[in-house]
Amino acid sequence: MEKKTFYITTPIYYPSGKPHIGHCYCTLACDAIARYKRMQGYDVMFLTGTDEHGQKIEQNAEKEGITPKQYVDRVAQEFKDLWKLLNISNDKFIRTTDDYHVKAVQKIFAELYRRGDIYKGEYKGWYCTPCESFWTETQLKDGRCPDCGREVKMVSEEAYFFRLSKYADRLLKLYRDHPDFIQPDSRKNEMIRFINQGLEDLCVSRTSFSWGIPVTFDPKHVVYVWVDALTNYITALGYGSDDDSLYRKFWPADVHFVGKEIVRFHTIIWPAMLMALGLPLPKQVYGHGWLLFGDGSKMSKSKGNVVDPLILCSRYGVDAVRYFLLREIPFGADGIFTNEALISRINSDLANDLGNLLSRTTAMVRKYFGGKIPAERESAPPDDELISTALALRGKCDAAVGGYQFSAALTEIWKLVSRANKYIDETAPWALGKDETKKARLAAVLYNLCESLRILSILLAPFLPDTAPKIQAQIGASADELTYESAGKWGVLPPDAAVTKGEPLFPRIDVDREIGELNRLIPNPAAKKEETPAAAKPEGIAPISIDDFAKVDLRAAKVKACEPVPRSKKLLKLTLDDGAGERTVASGISQWYKPEDLVGHTVVLVSNLKPAKLCGVESRGMILAADAGDDSVKVLFADGVPAGGRIR
Ligand code: MSP
Repeated sequence: MEKKTFYITTPIYYPSGKPHIGHCYCTLACDAIARYKRMQGYDVMFLTGTDEHGQKIEQNAEKEGITPKQYVDRVAQEFKDLWKLLNISNDKFIRTTDDYHVKAVQKIFAELYRRGDIYKGEYKGWYCTPCESFWTETQLKDGRCPDCGREVKMVSEEAYFFRLSKYADRLLKLYRDHPDFIQPDSRKNEMIRFINQGLEDLCVSRTSFSWGIPVTFDPKHVVYVWVDALTNYITALGYGSDDDSLYRKFWPADVHFVGKEIVRFHTIIWPAMLMALGLPLPKQVYGHGWLLFGDGSKMSKSKGNVVDPLILCSRYGVDAVRYFLLREIPFGADGIFTNEALISRINSDLANDLGNLLSRTTAMVRKYFGGKIPAERESAPPDDELISTALALRGKCDAAVGGYQFSAALTEIWKLVSRANKYIDETAPWALGKDETKKARLAAVLYNLCESLRILSILLAPFLPDTAPKIQAQIGASADELTYESAGKWGVLPPDAAVTKGEPLFPRIDVDREIGELNRLIPNPAAKKEETPAAAKPEGIAPISIDDFAKVDLRAAKVKACEPVPRSKKLLKLTLDDGAGERTVASGISQWYKPEDLVGHTVVLVSNLKPAKLCGVESRGMILAADAGDDSVKVLFADGVPAGGRIR
């Protein structure tokens, strides 16, 4: 039987400057989906590329004293190198300067002209050079570009137009008949409003610059950006060439992932062009949000405030960057990038939760069984919940990935990680290890942990392709035990699997030292604002930015022990498990709490507070409590949250 196909695309990026983390976001999202679909058995085509024509490129090249082609050759290579570094598994990389694309665009343009959907007219409009966008008077915001806020200029020239206005009704019908065509729904409503304001015909050629694809029948015109760019999704498959077998196999695309500012082009212009050509329409356009800085400003190369992915990958590794971008931001919404949030995710989710689960498990298998778990095992009731969580994981990830919610898929995977960590606490294998008669029970506990790691590593692989094989090697799993099918089964690891202890997956980062260094290496507009003199700040407790808040590392911590501090009337000394280890915290609450009120509960810990000595106790952190009126104080409990869980 033929495999089902799946075709997914990123936008093609403008190589008008170095690629930044905002570009990585969409490409990583596509990569995770493409890998997941391949794992599920689909025949996948994953396309990305560069959109290389236009005035901006021409100007950039001129500034450097090189030809536009030399310029785009260099930057396109930077994109390719970055995708390689990030483990992007694209099946094809299209450049709009590729010969086959140029020829196909010329054919498409001529065909639209022949059909009467492209005609010659005069273009008058407001043009934003950095965005390469034309705007009508009503679209301008305070007389400026509505996208970037910069000045626009009035341009008038002979141009070809595409009869976009003719397609308004058919587009609205398309959205009605295919309610999932534009996702998320909020973006669909924007598009409906836009069409209802009245669609104007679209200028599709320029004579004011020459770095573009010449119109064959009127060569002083070059094809203007969107016809050149959007058609990449079919020309990359060979449409309009001698060999269109890939086009026939993969078109229509299952989904185009695009940033929210270009949803309009993909859901209005692109389907209208395809309608005009009589071709099938893509099944879905998914508009994702932007990566913003903590002060809400967009990271963008034309503003020059971008985060360089190379710096992050070289410091933390590719998978840490992949994890952060895919986990932190629900797909569709805007997300805030802060250095603090990145490091905190690495420390809590990767180093603590996942890293510790693996290292504790493999260390115990080595310590108690020399690396091989015996086949004689004794199950017990705590196993059931772990096993059912693990067995349900594949279905949950499938559902999340099916809706392109990879952040939700990762959240589900981490629920199993937390469940397995909790299982270690519940079953206390170190105690079983002390009792010869409990060997079979200990074997079952450690086997269950390895099985959980096996299942979660399979489902994690599309997201963290370097890390998953490291986990799999350490639990001694071989290829047959790592198939997508086997992620839905329990008891697959054979008894002779050789468990080994490898390097830690993600070394823990020293937050204080690293943040200083990162803020120096990576521009952060929100951080600069802190330099505002104190006098300029409002009275009372001044408002803080999300970046300021992100500096406070709040964690759930379990109270292991507690006792009064001998020389103090107020202080209790708490021994806390903060997920990474034990620490002591002194807290002035003995008037309201006895030690036994606290032991076994989970509290909220300010974990990155500088250590202080209080009545001879070295206090590392602070626990949160609230004034509850009438001079009473109530500790904030976070029972049920695993130790180390980040509170945000
Ligand atoms: N060349 C056009 C797309 C043509 S597709 C037929 C283009 N290029 S772009 O380089 O400006 O942007 C490419 C993609 O990167 C867009 O989807 C855009 O939203 C995305 N991003 C650029 N900066 C971004 C962030 N700060 N955050 C998230 N995505 C961002 O538009």
